[in-house]
Amino acid sequence: MTDASRKSAAGNIAEPCVVVIFGATGDLTGRKLLPAIYNLTRDGALPKSSVIVGFARRAKTDEQFRAEMLDAVNKFSRVKPAEKEVWDDLAQRLFYHQSTFEDAGGYQSLAKRLFELDERFGTGGRRLYYLSTSPTEFAPIVDHLGESGLGNIDPFSSSAWRRIIVEKPFGRNLATARELNAHINRVFDESQVFRIDHYLGKQTVQNFLIFRFANGIFEPIWNRRYVDHVQITVGETLGVEGRGGYFETAGTLRDMLQNHLMQLLTLIAMEPPVALDGDAIRDEKVRVLKSIPLFTPQEVADYTVRGQYSAGQVDGKQVVGYHEERGVAPQSVTETYAAVKLYINNWRWQGVPFYLRSGKHMHRQGSELSIHFNSAPGVLFNAQANRVARNVLTLRVQPNEGISLLINAKRPGTTTRISPVHMDFEYHEAFGSYSPEAYERLLLDAILGDSTLFIRRDEVECSWAIIDRIEEGWQSGLSPLAVYEPGSWGPAEADMLLARDGRSWDRLGADGATTASGK
Ligand code: BG6
Repeated sequence: MTDASRKSAAGNIAEPCVVVIFGATGDLTGRKLLPAIYNLTRDGALPKSSVIVGFARRAKTDEQFRAEMLDAVNKFSRVKPAEKEVWDDLAQRLFYHQSTFEDAGGYQSLAKRLFELDERFGTGGRRLYYLSTSPTEFAPIVDHLGESGLGNIDPFSSSAWRRIIVEKPFGRNLATARELNAHINRVFDESQVFRIDHYLGKQTVQNFLIFRFANGIFEPIWNRRYVDHVQITVGETLGVEGRGGYFETAGTLRDMLQNHLMQLLTLIAMEPPVALDGDAIRDEKVRVLKSIPLFTPQEVADYTVRGQYSAGQVDGKQVVGYHEERGVAPQSVTETYAAVKLYINNWRWQGVPFYLRSGKHMHRQGSELSIHFNSAPGVLFNAQANRVARNVLTLRVQPNEGISLLINAKRPGTTTRISPVHMDFEYHEAFGSYSPEAYERLLLDAILGDSTLFIRRDEVECSWAIIDRIEEGWQSGLSPLAVYEPGSWGPAEADMLLARDGRSWDRLGADGATTASGK
């Protein structure tokens, strides 16, 4: 059993339902969704007799779909190969429904089929729709769900529900996000909408709140009086990996900063919520976003850096430049790296810079946050050959999941020499290697109706408002595109961004531990 026993924090019980995946022949379904459903089944966390229906354009029988999904589970599941007994149990509740997303008839036949499945498996009109298609299909699918009655709750059944999970990207700016929100809300009430950000499904990210609010010692120092600055890095050694076409429409700012990094930022900076329910937590996250002043053009020029990788080497392997990637325009100015310095203008954080960066083909793979505390007064150890390092608390989201605190210690010896050392907590040492994948937790939460780990409408809109200003500045030529070597830590301009403040970026170490830099 997972720790996610079949009850939500609000006490909701997970009941058998039908999960309809739109875009079921796409990459996400095989790589993430079916492996997650398999593992939930294996752990006994998925309500028994739940049904999965894949909806997509390509012609396919149920049997073919099952065989493909079994291959996917064998390849991508965290537990593999699939255990026969578990798979056979799941496979008999796995179906395929062929239709284009535009064909009204396809939704009518789906409605009929779902009704029959309800009768057969006792799923009681409970439906979770998962939009895992290209974003251009989101609005048409929602319209069709509305028109065919699939969005409505059966007024005669008190236990029926309808929920919809929407994958990213959720719009490509504030205007399109608002439009999409309005569109979805014509069919589904906000309480039925689950906007996904898979970073919130990561155990280490959920631990931010436990770390901050279940421990008494951090809260008093978690503010401008004790914190010098905060860094958030999401570095990837991979490039765009055949997703050049998509990436051209996004860039790192939209692909990573607008969602994943902003989410990490809000969780680390938010005030204690009044309760642990979805709305209380999301109210606080929204307050953080609202406290971030929107950039002026001058601030875009001064506080942001955008970069694009050239050809070169990563981990000893030759890689092509972004321009040569499939689906990328030869003159493209799409960024594969972005760094931003921003402030949160509230009582807790005023004047504390938050530095965010993310890039493809970086030196190391790793997502982490570091809180750099103010230095101790220098009076006692000024004579030291090396300056005394700041205390740095690093929360490692992945890999080497854990938390470390950099402290100064006396080196053994007959003289007083001080060296920085790490106090380390490692997840796998403390809890073993069991860790459900992000999509397992998120799917289960949606089935439970718990939206805490999903993005609320106002959250997504506030985040876009911040990103739009940067994007507009970049479009008008502010902060020119810098080129960086693959396998590096990004463009020199990003180092300058911190150097101007007398700081430098963390170096994510080979063992995942950050080597902190001091002022
Ligand atoms: C996705 C982005 O949302 O997150 C990808 O579209 C990125 O470009 C991925 O590679 C990173 O996720 P993770 O979990 O591997 O850090």
